[in-house]
Amino acid sequence: MLLKITILPGDGIGPEVTEQAVLVVRAVAGRFGHQVELQHKLIGGVALTAANDPLPPDTIQACLSSSAVLLGAVGSPAFDHNPNHLRPEAGLLRIRRELGAYANLRAAVFFPALEDCSPLRAEIVRGTDIMIVRELLGGAYFGQPRSIEGPAGSRVAVNTMRYGEEEIERIARVAFELAIKRRRKVLSVDKANVLECSRLWREVVTRVAKDYPEVKLAHQYVDSAAMLLVQRPTEFDVVLTENMFGDILSDQAGGVVGSLGLLASASVGGPVGLYEPVHGSAPDIAGKGIANPLGAILSVAMMLRHSFQLEREAAWVENAVSVVLGKGARTADLAGKSHSAITTAQMGQQVVEAVTDSV
Ligand code: IPM
Ligand code: MG
Repeated sequence: MLLKITILPGDGIGPEVTEQAVLVVRAVAGRFGHQVELQHKLIGGVALTAANDPLPPDTIQACLSSSAVLLGAVGSPAFDHNPNHLRPEAGLLRIRRELGAYANLRAAVFFPALEDCSPLRAEIVRGTDIMIVRELLGGAYFGQPRSIEGPAGSRVAVNTMRYGEEEIERIARVAFELAIKRRRKVLSVDKANVLECSRLWREVVTRVAKDYPEVKLAHQYVDSAAMLLVQRPTEFDVVLTENMFGDILSDQAGGVVGSLGLLASASVGGPVGLYEPVHGSAPDIAGKGIANPLGAILSVAMMLRHSFQLEREAAWVENAVSVVLGKGARTADLAGKSHSAITTAQMGQQVVEAVTDSV
């Protein structure tokens, strides 16, 4: 198969982690006899610097003409005072929309080798395997009107949380379909005791659930879900939620399993899938070669699975990650007191070797 992929390294640690992820793409392609065709494009702060646009037209073109997109991270404090549309993050939000990627799948899986990395006791976190299904193109991120207006000292800021029934229904179906292949549980997270959006959300999700009688649906308010996520993480299977709640809960899930650096994501639903680690650009450690590339590498596994239907190859990459963690490979975020930290490139190299060598 031809793996035609656009690479968007972006800002901060994005280029370092995507470089390792690309090596893994090449290794797994070599191992299983696939061809790789890559093109690198600009997004985020680097695109603002080069073209004064966080998502230049030729980046969009390249993404739309490939089979999948692998993104590193966007965001840089250099643009903190820019207006919204000239911030790096605007590039990310726009590419999600351009690609029609309304379903953001974020996997938080606990690796047995990492028992000492989670802030939770081993007996609480052991067995955690959560799939967060975050709605990605609606809610307060995209709702109109939005503004900051008024005279200095008494300005007023407005954001709009907005959801239509069709938007809720299509993301709910993604969650139920995934649940069928997993432990058949969907927890829909909302704030229906306060928000109209959440009341509609709950109603539509309950209606959609009737088409999936084999899946057990439960509803939870987001505050209470946040508490349960640290108290009893193993009880979660598929978590279905709106854009901002999903943003928050997925970082928390990263903390639960030991490091946000491990979390991978797939943004699907449109013609071309977008794959990115959940961690951000981490400007404080950028350029030091110490970032954890496993989130990006595990995003490659999600790409193989969701864009190319290469389940065997996807599982191969995931297994390689397990193997290197089992051997004690730890980047700084995972090292703690018991291990010495290896670099981004060393971690990438170990995964490449595990992909190439394992039988
Ligand atoms: C994420 C990030 C983004 C988001 C930012 C960088 C716009 O936090 O992917 O979780 O909020 O979606
Ligand atoms: Mg986030």
